[in-house]
Amino acid sequence: MPHSHEYDVLIIGSGAAGLTVALNLPSHLRIAVISKADISSGATLWAQGGIAAVLDNEDSVENHIQDTLVSGGGLCHEDAVRFTVENARTSVEWLIDRGVSFTRDEHEQLHLTREGGHSHRRIIHAADATGQAVSLTLTDQAASRPNISLLSQRVAVDLITNRKLSLPGNRCVGAYVLNLTDNHVELFRARFTVIATGGASKAYRYTTNPDGASGDGIAMAWRAGCRVANMEFNQFHPTCLYHPHAKSFLISEAVRGEGGHLLLPDGHRFMDQFDRRAELAPRDIVARAIDHEMKRLGADHLLLDISHKPAGFVRRHFPTIHEKCLAYGIDITREPIPVVPAAHYTCGGVITDKRARTDISQLYVVGEAAFTGLHGANRMASNSLLECLVYGRAAAADITRRESDIPPVPAVPDWDESQVRDSDEDVVISHNWDELRHFMWDYVGIVRTTKRLQRAKHRVDLLAQEIAEFYSNYRVSNDLLELRNLVTVADLIICSALQRRESRGLHYTLDYPGQTSDPKDTVLVPTNYRTPLS
Ligand code: FAD
Ligand code: SIN
Repeated sequence: MPHSHEYDVLIIGSGAAGLTVALNLPSHLRIAVISKADISSGATLWAQGGIAAVLDNEDSVENHIQDTLVSGGGLCHEDAVRFTVENARTSVEWLIDRGVSFTRDEHEQLHLTREGGHSHRRIIHAADATGQAVSLTLTDQAASRPNISLLSQRVAVDLITNRKLSLPGNRCVGAYVLNLTDNHVELFRARFTVIATGGASKAYRYTTNPDGASGDGIAMAWRAGCRVANMEFNQFHPTCLYHPHAKSFLISEAVRGEGGHLLLPDGHRFMDQFDRRAELAPRDIVARAIDHEMKRLGADHLLLDISHKPAGFVRRHFPTIHEKCLAYGIDITREPIPVVPAAHYTCGGVITDKRARTDISQLYVVGEAAFTGLHGANRMASNSLLECLVYGRAAAADITRRESDIPPVPAVPDWDESQVRDSDEDVVISHNWDELRHFMWDYVGIVRTTKRLQRAKHRVDLLAQEIAEFYSNYRVSNDLLELRNLVTVADLIICSALQRRESRGLHYTLDYPGQTSDPKDTVLVPTNYRTPLS
């Protein structure tokens, strides 16, 4: 494999966001889509509940907008919400045209399920494995396009910008990428670069996310000079399977949408004491209520019960969850499921506009890595895949519009490994990784205090120093790169949380339990930030 590549468009990430961009670009553009693991890895593959869109005559775009604004706790950007919701139907139709097979009812109409925060049934889904249907279909489609190269086992290390090359302007011209098959860092030059690397929930000890959710794209964009916003709003999903051998298995919110009850260990329901919407309140409220009850009772988990529904109904709607739980000895048609909250979604990210443009020319960010203003202080269920589709299509449209005006990229030097050696101390990486994820869980979790955040800040600063030293002296590896990015993202989360002196949405602090009357986004500006030209 050559160590130097040139493309029109480099897309870093092959989840719903990255593949949507690739598949909406014209066929004369040469496109590379890279993924640090298999092409179908990433959160998209694991998505369960579905995709929100107004498809029922009883529902309306205005309802979806209002529900999103309410869930977002006063911080959603209404224009971004409107843009997303108004484009939902065509985006979903595009997916159906690509061949994604969504669940239909006995009249062949799309079956719509319900999740927290939604006032109507509006979630289309492929049983309880929507992400798998989306990911595999889009991957197949991309694989059949001669102009798209799908390159797995490639980890983007850092973006390359004109500024790094000491050239005028503030343009992204590609990225250095570690090829995991031969451990060499390759050069990818591209006229357009799209970050679609997903979220950063691996910063936490317990998470619903698969490996790889280390916030690489957010960290890379920050280092390159992009602003990030609202990183304090890390969403905890209320119901992750609690079992000693189950790693990161989500129990979809659709289980509650179809009538599941949350129970205390003694079998009593409790959610109606916290919110009139009970189990279908927005996620921040449900996760905090579970956390509160677990701490009050000293319980290591609570229960989610759908066994009062007919067994056939449960198996038909939730075949994946049923099978997975059965493998752990839990028959969900007959008994409740042990559940705990876990880190699930990064609501903040790299600041983008409605074309997915960032502060750096020719650099786009889409999907969970982006901050579009849609989610506010708390993302509503099933609005994330929707955002990947809507903004992925918008990014592709913008690149298509501009591509004939953008000149080729300048010469770029190869990656320089002459000053580094192989590490003989990989234990430092695994130890630091564990330490980070533990203190983030304990000090920057569902309930925060200023003192805990300051403790976390102190520790993250020490880790950042150690990792910087490691990075400058040793050859890069995937583990080192992920840790380096996680430390950066953890720092962004902690700094944002320290700045927010109120409790809103997913950010709840005992020191500031009330809300300010004029809420604002938390915008962090890197020292190398330059005002964008366009
Ligand atoms: P991902 O799908 O996470 O893809 C990221 C890609 O980037 C991967 O290909 C990865 O390999 C690659 N990558 C990362 N870093 C690098 C790097 N440095 N170099 C190269 N490649 C890199 N949302 C909904 O709307 N509905 C749901 O039902 C739903 N269910 C969910 C269930 C689970 C268990 C989880 C974890 C999330 C769920 N979400 C759901 C959220 C949603 O799935 C994600 O937000 C969305 O899939 C993110 O898509 P993405 O394309 O931005 O990133
Ligand atoms: C779920 O199925 O509960 C996840 C939905 C989401 O994260 O939007």
